[in-house]
Amino acid sequence: MKKFFIQTFGCQMNVYDGQRITNMLKINGWQQIEDMRNADLIIINTCAIREKASNKVFSALGRIRDSKKPEAIFGIVGCVARESGADAFRRIPDLNFVLGPQSYHKLLEILKNPDIKLLNIDLGGLEKFDELPQMVKSDTVAYIPVQEGCNHGCTYCIVPFTRGRELSRPFDDIIRDTIHAAATGAIEICFIGQNVNGYKFENYKLSDLIIKTAKLDTIKRIRFTSSYPTEMTDDLIDLFRTEAKLLPLLHLPIQSGSSDVLTRMNRSYSLDLYIEIIDKLRVARPEIKISSDFIVGFPGETDSDFNKTMDIVKKIKYICSYSFKYSPRPRTVAALMTDQIPENVKRERLKTIDSYLNGIQREFNESCIGKTFECLCEGPDRTGKHLLFRTPYMQQCIVEKPSEKILDLVNIKITAANKSSLRGEIVKI
Ligand code: 5AD
Ligand code: SF4
Repeated sequence: MKKFFIQTFGCQMNVYDGQRITNMLKINGWQQIEDMRNADLIIINTCAIREKASNKVFSALGRIRDSKKPEAIFGIVGCVARESGADAFRRIPDLNFVLGPQSYHKLLEILKNPDIKLLNIDLGGLEKFDELPQMVKSDTVAYIPVQEGCNHGCTYCIVPFTRGRELSRPFDDIIRDTIHAAATGAIEICFIGQNVNGYKFENYKLSDLIIKTAKLDTIKRIRFTSSYPTEMTDDLIDLFRTEAKLLPLLHLPIQSGSSDVLTRMNRSYSLDLYIEIIDKLRVARPEIKISSDFIVGFPGETDSDFNKTMDIVKKIKYICSYSFKYSPRPRTVAALMTDQIPENVKRERLKTIDSYLNGIQREFNESCIGKTFECLCEGPDRTGKHLLFRTPYMQQCIVEKPSEKILDLVNIKITAANKSSLRGEIVKI
């Protein structure tokens, strides 16, 4: 049996793409292995969102070339493949394939004919969804893409170049995938898309997908990511009131708390509008928590702009959030702005925001001690002595492994907490 190795970087959509590649190869008789040195096929599934990650791909490829089996074929898929195109072959001449995020289903072509150099970075729209074989089985959390690409045109973002303009999948196709996931092991459905709440197919919206999915008995939890603020329409907000299966956590990236910076980022909402949306969500579901992404050191960001970001972090009390130093990306408007921020200032601002976000996360985690949550089992930890669970707020909860078999969803009483995880005990009924 031929062996393959795959490593995935980047967002949930990339993780999903990695799962589809793995599924396609297994169906075609390939075996997945963890040690790249023994593989006959090596695939690096890449992310281009920040410069550092993008550059690392090529140094990693250099190392792979030197340690792989001589006859093994290797290549890149995903966003760096799309960004670099044929240039990847110039940088690493022995590379065998370069396939973009919408053309990786063509991978089988090179397996039939390993002597060719395969380059395909077409934005093939939704073609891959029709071409790829159905997933054999689902994880307990099934990630289901509803749309790909983005039309928002944020001035810092490479995604419109790597994933193209927004395309929503047909409603029936998504429901078919959801039912299949439910029938093959999924307990939780996470709808994904670069602009997931911008989903629009004929008259269907994301709220219609959620309502239909909630009717499936075996699906107990539903969430979606990543949302754009102005597309949090009232029908979607109202679901947090009416649909108990929708988890009480929403990822709603604000990026910056300064209206000036938001304007230069071409984010089409004011701070007031953003706060209004959060207020509505809190009325709909009082226990809801919000997570966000933040970019610090965007061109022209002053100390006062940054302080406004810190103010909003304190006001909203975000949990589970991510912050990044602004990274200039090829072909984006912001990369050409003349008032780029020095690296040391970006680093300091990142340290400040990170330490504050970590503080709120710790506080929130500690506030959970003594409470009981219904949690989803993710399986054993590396030692095999514990089970790992996810709370409805996506916190990781570690539990002593019981001798009896447990269900996927169980009530857990939280007994201890730190910044990054919780500890708990299974509540016996
Ligand atoms: N520099 C830094 N962070 C970025 N992001 C997107 N583009 C850039 C960039 N050029 C961040 C945003 C986005 C998250 C996925 O990555 O915060 O929400
Ligand atoms: Fe990275 Fe964006 Fe591509 Fe996801 S879509 S892999 S975040 S560049």
